[in-house]
Amino acid sequence: MGFSTDAIHTGQEPDAATGAIVPPIYQTSTYVQEGINQNKGYDYARTNHPNRKALERCVAKLEGGLTSYVFSSGMAAIDAVFRLLRPGDHAVLSEAVYGGVYRLTMQLLVQFGMEFTYVNTSSEEKVRAALRPSTKMLYVETPTNPTMIVTDLAAMAGIAREKRLTLVVDNTFLSPYLQRPVEHGAHIVVHSMTKYLGGHSDLTAGVAVVTRQEDADKIYFVQRSAGAGLAPMDCFLTARGIKTLAVRMERHNANGETLAKFLAGHKKVKRVLYPGLPSHPQHELAKRQQKGFGAMISFDVGSLEAARRLLENVKLCSLAESLGGVETLISNPALMTHSSIPPERRREVGITDGLVRISVGIEDVEDLQADLDQALTKV
Ligand SMILES: Cc1ncc(COP(=O)(O)O)c(C=O)c1O
Repeated sequence: MGFSTDAIHTGQEPDAATGAIVPPIYQTSTYVQEGINQNKGYDYARTNHPNRKALERCVAKLEGGLTSYVFSSGMAAIDAVFRLLRPGDHAVLSEAVYGGVYRLTMQLLVQFGMEFTYVNTSSEEKVRAALRPSTKMLYVETPTNPTMIVTDLAAMAGIAREKRLTLVVDNTFLSPYLQRPVEHGAHIVVHSMTKYLGGHSDLTAGVAVVTRQEDADKIYFVQRSAGAGLAPMDCFLTARGIKTLAVRMERHNANGETLAKFLAGHKKVKRVLYPGLPSHPQHELAKRQQKGFGAMISFDVGSLEAARRLLENVKLCSLAESLGGVETLISNPALMTHSSIPPERRREVGITDGLVRISVGIEDVEDLQADLDQALTKV
């Protein structure tokens, strides 16, 4: 079946009891048992429930995985994946990942004896140089947030195979419609489903898609033991969002390409980071590895003051964190999403004070362009 057919139908079969075309929301914490430990597949909603099972089947199918586990946020899913590590284990990660991942690893997980090294994963050489005998995991975000660096997933899979590492890819920025990391050799794919998969800025959710049974068993153990599995209503909303993923991504992608070209030609803009522009250092790789360039654009207006003026003067674009919703969001990573990264580290990885990140929505692109143009004149 094609991507859209899977997105609409996998896990979303009509309700056997009533014929309802949309599976009902099982808003219940517990399930009556026919006898002790005899049930219809469910006993308690922290452990599992039908809406979660349905959504997990759907996302696993879209990413080409074995199965998936959905959590109350992207960070909860990512935390569950890092629990595959043991004290003394080491992981290599893409620098300039989402700030919350930096905080989770460097402020929380280090307290449990895990070790982390951040490198530019677009360089195979740098990744190899960071490896230690204790390295167990390679964690890649591509394109990176907000520096839009693209990492060669097949090359990372080659290293992972050779050194027996688990390759984890955060696919939030592109969604499985535009990039399928499992096809390039990833073992685990994570998403903040708060973003494109949910698609409507009305929930927080995360997923870990796995390809190996041993990872599935461990992550399910974390999900039911730590209790951060996604609740029925949020599973329903995410599944509803996913049904329109393909059409939304087509429009996001088209709007993204148009606005990136517009910004690249604007005299108030110093540089644009967007893999779809031929000037992007990994443009050819992005063309090969991705089905489209997506709708995340970062651009530099020269200073924090200039960024502030732009963000305070947009009218249609909303000043907000997050991304991937139908409405266009604009932010300053240095002071907002990436403020948990120390300033000197931000500078090292290219998150300048004047950097502005835009998550291009699916509004009429002429309106978005006009809004950015009028706000840029005030810079
Ligand atoms: C690329 C990426 N990964 C993970 C996360 C964390 O997801 P959540 O906010 O759903 O916990 C985010 C959040 O912005 C993100 O942008």
